[in-house]
Amino acid sequence: MTNIKIGEKHLVIKVVAMPRDTNPSGDMFGGWIVSQMDLAGALLARQITKKRIVTVSIDNLVFHKPVHVGDCVICYAALEKTGRTSITVRIDVHVERRSNFVEEKVTEGRFVFVAVDPDNTPIPYADA
Ligand SMILES: CC(C)(COP(=O)(O)OP(=O)(O)OC[C@H]1O[C@@H](n2cnc3c(N)ncnc32)[C@H](O)[C@@H]1OP(=O)(O)O)[C@@H](O)C(=O)NCCC(=O)NCCS
Repeated sequence: MTNIKIGEKHLVIKVVAMPRDTNPSGDMFGGWIVSQMDLAGALLARQITKKRIVTVSIDNLVFHKPVHVGDCVICYAALEKTGRTSITVRIDVHVERRSNFVEEKVTEGRFVFVAVDPDNTPIPYADA
């Protein structure tokens, strides 16, 4: 395992919100935001486990504020808990607003990943 500590925040993804991923109201589609969070969590989990991982659950997901086209979306990942085969990662999404460059938190959630072998059977990763 790497020496990533519990609770330590890591900037994992920084990306501009593009118009192709909007909802019918013109703001960013929630599913796109969740996919960025899933990717961010998976990157941190994979760095720690050094194994192939799959997402097993997502909870505590809250969309606090909308994301607008052109905002810079920033995903912070923090290791919350390690298990035998699973790993829990908290994701906070911030944006740097295109309009005024102010950074604010827009979404948060908790993602659980499981280390798996090629047959998708959970495997321990502590020896990684
Ligand atoms: C993830 C998967 C391999 C787990 O299989 P499983 O038979 O439930 O595994 P187990 O019961 O042995 O549990 C394995 C670990 O997952 C955890 N887990 C299982 N279900 C969970 C849930 N709903 N929420 C949180 N953790 C869960 C267990 O606590 C255990 O953790 P630990 O080893 O650290 O104690 C299986 O459910 C699966 O393949 N799901 C589909 C994954 C997927 O396609 N994701 C989307 C794309 S990445």
